[in-house]
Amino acid sequence: MTDQQRVLVLGGTVYLSKEIAAQAVARGHDVTVAARGESGEPPEGVEFVRIDRGDDEGVEPLRGRSFDAVVDVARIPAQVRRVLDVLGDSAGHWTFVSSISVYADHSRTDSEVLEPTDADNEDPDIELYGRNKVACEDLVRERLGGKAFIPRPGLIVGAGDNVDRLGYWPLRIAEGGEVLAPGRPERLVQWIDVEDLASWILDAAERGTSGTYNAIGEPIGMGSFLDGIADALIGIGAAERPDFTWVPQEFLLEHGVMPWAGPESLGFWLPEPDYDGMIAHDPGPAVGAGLAPSPLGTTVERWWRANAAAPRLQAGLSREKEGAVLGAWHDRERGFDVPDELPEA
Ligand SMILES: NC(=O)c1ccc[n+]([C@@H]2O[C@H](COP(=O)([O-])OP(=O)(O)OC[C@H]3O[C@@H](n4cnc5c(N)ncnc54)[C@H](OP(=O)(O)O)[C@@H]3O)[C@@H](O)[C@H]2O)c1
Repeated sequence: MTDQQRVLVLGGTVYLSKEIAAQAVARGHDVTVAARGESGEPPEGVEFVRIDRGDDEGVEPLRGRSFDAVVDVARIPAQVRRVLDVLGDSAGHWTFVSSISVYADHSRTDSEVLEPTDADNEDPDIELYGRNKVACEDLVRERLGGKAFIPRPGLIVGAGDNVDRLGYWPLRIAEGGEVLAPGRPERLVQWIDVEDLASWILDAAERGTSGTYNAIGEPIGMGSFLDGIADALIGIGAAERPDFTWVPQEFLLEHGVMPWAGPESLGFWLPEPDYDGMIAHDPGPAVGAGLAPSPLGTTVERWWRANAAAPRLQAGLSREKEGAVLGAWHDRERGFDVPDELPEA
């Protein structure tokens, strides 16, 4: 085991940051979690410090503390600046979890980042998410220099996901029958398992890794992805071989199937060509710096065991919508005229 560190997780009450705190406890570190306590409970075995980063006063409970490693998942520059003012000079290592949403052009893999928002910006508007993350990254790099580690995750999947985009697929495949598959089997998809990302972040803190990396696994085709989910479920006796019907993206978009996330969406699917870059980032530099993405089957099994009994799906087609779109697609294949507006099922 590595030496015990004093680790501060800013967040730690939900999903990724909670997983980081839980793994840090399991590694034997002395773990403090600082948040409002509104999103959920911190994991067992941590010290909880109640803070509210909404104003300068709210982070005072952290003043005078010092940590070997700090991990922050914030999205608002002013909130990042406040904790840097209180802790930045004493921290040994600082991870800021950013996002691949920092890139200006998602159709390419070599895009510049977006123009940052103002370093004092407090506006959480989702339209500013990428620009806010750029401003947060800049603040952390300026303050921590060679102690700053900045992973930019793509789609994070796993147990505890509060915007679950994976879950629809294992559940739908387990249900069986004709399964609507989006676009082309060769269209790439890309993700990172929350457990792998948390583990890498702790490895980086322990080893003093610095730099900025796209934190993502190897891209694979949507066909291999869906087959891989089926293989994993068949392997644990949760599914039989499904029957996929591939429907072109234009037909799906014309008939109200949403890509990526949200109601009546198909998770992981991003239309071509606008998102050609977002699903094709090179994991090489991150893997070279220690990221070890699990095989798809492992991620699916983890999700299944943690969520299948009581899923909280945030993405996916209703069975009615899927049936209506498949019916319309088969009519189109038979040469019938199909209206864009499908009748209510
Ligand atoms: N999900 C994805 O696919 C994806 C993809 C790319 C990047 N990311 C990034 O990955 C990270 C995910 O982080 P996460 O899973 O831990 O979820 P999160 O929802 O970003 O968690 C935010 C944490 O900050 C705390 N917090 C929020 N407002 C606060 C305030 N005013 N004062 C103090 N604490 C506050 C929350 O706890 P309380 O509410 O209890 O205070 C919570 O623990 C984020 O940085 C996200 O931008 C996610």
